[in-house]
Amino acid sequence: MKHSFYSNMQITQPYDKLALIYDKLMSHVNYKIWADYIISLFQYSDIKVNSLIDLSCGTGSLLTNFINKQYSFWGSDISFPMISQAQKKFDNTCLIVSDVKQIAFKPNSFDAVLLLYDSLNYMQNEEQIDKLFNEVNRILRKGGVFIFDVITDLLCKTHYKNFEEEENWGESGYLRHSHYNENINIQQNDFRITIGNNTFFESHIQKVFSDMKIVKCLNQNNFEIAAQLDDFTFHHSGDDSERVHNVCLKK
Ligand SMILES: C[S@@+](CC[C@H](N)C(=O)[O-])C[C@H]1O[C@@H](n2cnc3c(N)ncnc32)[C@H](O)[C@@H]1O
Repeated sequence: MKHSFYSNMQITQPYDKLALIYDKLMSHVNYKIWADYIISLFQYSDIKVNSLIDLSCGTGSLLTNFINKQYSFWGSDISFPMISQAQKKFDNTCLIVSDVKQIAFKPNSFDAVLLLYDSLNYMQNEEQIDKLFNEVNRILRKGGVFIFDVITDLLCKTHYKNFEEEENWGESGYLRHSHYNENINIQQNDFRITIGNNTFFESHIQKVFSDMKIVKCLNQNNFEIAAQLDDFTFHHSGDDSERVHNVCLKK
């Protein structure tokens, strides 16, 4: 451990403090393009979507692109600080704190369920994925669509084996150190976050799962896989994919 990286810091839970700078950190992400892509995937799967939920909505940036469209939409996330940031962006939207492994909605509530930006990679083992898919199946209506993306082993090996970046915006900033252990398929992102005179440390652990495991869990939970798409395209994913969008239908 580098002394300078870890000294004089308060250790906080994932997203407790990152939530406060998350939108600045993600300013390079074009959520409008991502939302448009998701809507085109609804059309691609030929599903009429009226109601949707983003199960890891974070600060709500993707969901803002559903305002003034024909959808009724909800957001949930396990992190209260992330949901608190999201609340600033909406007037009447229902946003709740909820774990994807125990979702606080009734059966058959939605036409579409979203889980985006590597959120599935926060599951630590197959059993947790199984619980998550089981819950998604419960809250989706029959024939409804479940769309989630995952990062692949290739992406982590190529970009995050030993990665460091730093950004500062006057009063706040962060230093990120990422490490990928390809033996156990774990990517660890350590953040040193500065807010005013305080410094915090958050460690985010993401696991990369083989496509075989994901497909097995989807099958076990009564999903038909309509498509597995490379990145933000309509091409089938393959060995050279770094991000895969999975489009699944509840049987
Ligand atoms: C990389 S962020 C993506 C946030 C948002 N989807 C976006 O595109 O900006 C991952 C999100 O997953 C959420 N998350 C992690 N584990 C979760 C769980 N078990 N249940 C619900 N949300 C979870 C985190 O709190 C965080 O907001």
